Amino acid sequence: MESDHVKESIALIEAESHKETLRFITCGSVDDGKSTLIGRLLFESKNIFDDQLTSLESDSRHYGTQGEKIDLALLVDGLQAEREQGITIDVAYRFFATDRRRYIVADTPGHEQYTRNMATGASTADLAVILVDARKGVLVQTRRHSRIVAMMGIGHIVLAVNKMDLVGFDEQVFSAIEEDFRKFSEDFAFHAIQAIPLSGLEGDNVLFTSNQTPWYSGPSLMEYLEHVDVREASSRSAFRMPLQWINRPNLDFRGYCGRIAEGEIRPGDALRVLPSGVQTRVKSIIRGFGEVGHAYQGQSVTLTLMDEVDASRGDVVAAADDPPQSADQFEARLLWMADHAMTPGRHYLMKHACREVTVTITKIKYREDANTGAHLAAETLALNEIGTVNLSTSAPIVFEPYRVNRLLGGFILIDKLSFETVGAGMINFALRRAQNIHWQALEVNKAARSAIKHQKPLCLWFTGLSGSGKSAIANIVEKQLYAEGRHTSLLDGDNIRHGLNRDLGFTEADRVENIRRIAEVAKLMVGAGLIVLVSFISPFKSDREMARSLFDKGEFVEIFVDTPLDDCEKRDVKGLYAKARRGELKNFTGIDSPYEAPLTPEIYVSGTMASPEEEASLIMNYLATIQ
Ligand code: ADX
Repeated sequence: MESDHVKESIALIEAESHKETLRFITCGSVDDGKSTLIGRLLFESKNIFDDQLTSLESDSRHYGTQGEKIDLALLVDGLQAEREQGITIDVAYRFFATDRRRYIVADTPGHEQYTRNMATGASTADLAVILVDARKGVLVQTRRHSRIVAMMGIGHIVLAVNKMDLVGFDEQVFSAIEEDFRKFSEDFAFHAIQAIPLSGLEGDNVLFTSNQTPWYSGPSLMEYLEHVDVREASSRSAFRMPLQWINRPNLDFRGYCGRIAEGEIRPGDALRVLPSGVQTRVKSIIRGFGEVGHAYQGQSVTLTLMDEVDASRGDVVAAADDPPQSADQFEARLLWMADHAMTPGRHYLMKHACREVTVTITKIKYREDANTGAHLAAETLALNEIGTVNLSTSAPIVFEPYRVNRLLGGFILIDKLSFETVGAGMINFALRRAQNIHWQALEVNKAARSAIKHQKPLCLWFTGLSGSGKSAIANIVEKQLYAEGRHTSLLDGDNIRHGLNRDLGFTEADRVENIRRIAEVAKLMVGAGLIVLVSFISPFKSDREMARSLFDKGEFVEIFVDTPLDDCEKRDVKGLYAKARRGELKNFTGIDSPYEAPLTPEIYVSGTMASPEEEASLIMNYLATIQ
C-alpha cells in the first residue's frame, strides 16, 4: 500500500539500525491539532534539520497563527507539501528517532474524504494515536476512525485528548471523554488503550509529564511511545514471505527477494513455494550487503535456495510443514473508498501481498453502521462504508485470515479503468464451498464442438441505446448466418428479461447482474461451438469489459450501434421514452441513467446513416474476414 519510494526509505531505516522500530498512525478530525502535535514531537526530539528550522521561523512570522512563537503545524504541513511535490502518495510518512527507538509516523489528513488514506496508513501501523479535541469530545469522525483502526488490526491505542489548555486542564472533562471512548470501543478488542491529557500547542504531557495535570499519573505521550510493547502474543509463527521479485543478475545466481511477513528463517530450513507446492531448502540468506545466519519478521531479505525453483512475483515461500492455504473465494470485510458506489458483479483489480488478480464481489452480506456497528441490509456500499462481502478471484491466491497475518490477509481493490484505489479489505476466511468445487476436465471441448460445425465460435455483442436498432440488425445478421449454414443463437435483452432475468430491474446493480448472467450464458454457448448474438443496452463500460474478459482472444466482437438519443426518442417504438420523459419510468438509459459509449468497438455501426440491411452486410463482411 506504500509507494516504492517510501518502501525503500523504510527498508533503509530498518536495515540501518538495530533499534526497534515503532510504526504508528495519527488520526483525528480537522482542527484537532494533529499537525501541531506531530510537529512538537519532531521538534522537541530534535529531529528538525537546521535549515528547516530557519525557514520555519520565517514562515511562522509570515503565515503562522501563533504570533511570535514558532508554528509547529507549519513544519508538518511543509514537509507534506514537499513530499507531495516529488511523489504522489496519499499518506505522509515522517521518520524520527530517539536513543531507544526509531519511529515511522503515518500522518493522514482528517477530512472525511480522506478516510482511504487513513486506511492505507493504518495497514502497516502497530499503534494509533487518536486525537480528540477536549472541547468537542468523541465525534462521529473519531468513531469512524476508531472502527477502521480496529478493522485494520491495530491493537494499541493512544487516546490523545488535546487542547487541554483550552478547558483549564479540567480532570472531569478528560475522564468523561476517556470513559465515552472506552465504552464505545468495547467491542473492538483493542489490547490496550492509554488516554493522555495533553496540549500539543503548549507541550504539556507531550515529551514530559506536565505539572498542569497533577491528577494524571500516567506517562507522557513520548514516554508511552518509548516503552509500549506492541508485539502480539502470537501462538504461532510459521515462516511466510511473499516474493517481490526474483533477482537473476547472471546464470549462476537466483535470489528470491521479499519481506518476511511472519516467522523466522535459517539456512537449511525446509520451505515450500506456493501455489506450486514445490519443496526445497534455504541455502543462504542475504540481508543488506552480506550473508546472515538468521532473519525474522519485518526484515527484507534475499534467499538463495538449494534447488532452482520456478517462482514468480506474488508466489509465497513458506515453512514446508505449515504452509498457508490458497483459495479463490472468500468472505472479507471491505471498506469502500470511492465516490462511485461498489456494485456486486463488477470486476476490480485486487492487489494482495505482491500479486494482482481480478476479483468480483459476489454478494454483500451486510453493511455496518458507522456509529453503532449494527448490521444493515445493503445492495451496494457507498463511500466510507464498511461491509462484509463474499468475493471471488480469477485465480487462487495464497492467503491467511487477516487476524492471523495482516500482510497475507489484507488487500486493496483498484478500478480497472481509472486505476483509482476504491477499497481496502481484510480476508476473514475462504469459503468452504470453493474448496469443495473443482473444475471438471471435459474431453469433448469447445474446439471439438465447433469443428463439427465447421465454424469459429463467436460472441457478437451489440450495445447501444434502447431503440437504436440493435435487435433489428442482430436479427438480420442471424438470418444471414443461418442461411450460410451457421449454428447461431440470439440473446435479446427484452426476451431474456421475461425469463432468466425476470427478477431484475434497471438499477445500476440490477443491470450489472443482468450483464453478468448473460455474459456467462453467452460464454456457455460459445463453449458449445455456437455463434452467439447478444443484444443488450449494456450501458456500462466496465461490464462490457467484464463480458469480454470471459472470452478467448478474438472471440468477442463488440458492435456499437450508435444512434443518437434524439433519433431513438423520435422513433420511440415502444413509447418508453415518452413515459420516461413524463417521469413514469425511472432510470431510463439516456434520460436519467447514463450510457457509456464504447471508444474502440470492433465494429462501429452508425444507426442513422444506412438501412439495417446495409449495416448487417457490413457486419457480415467483417465476419467473413475472421471466420
Ligand atoms: S441493460 O441496460 O440491462 O442492458 P436490457 O438490454 O437488458 O438493458 O433491456 C433494455 C430494454 O428494457 C429496453 O430496450 C426497453 O425496452 C426496456 N426497458 C424498460 N425499462 C427500461 C429502463 N429504465 N432503461 C432502459 N430500458 C428499459
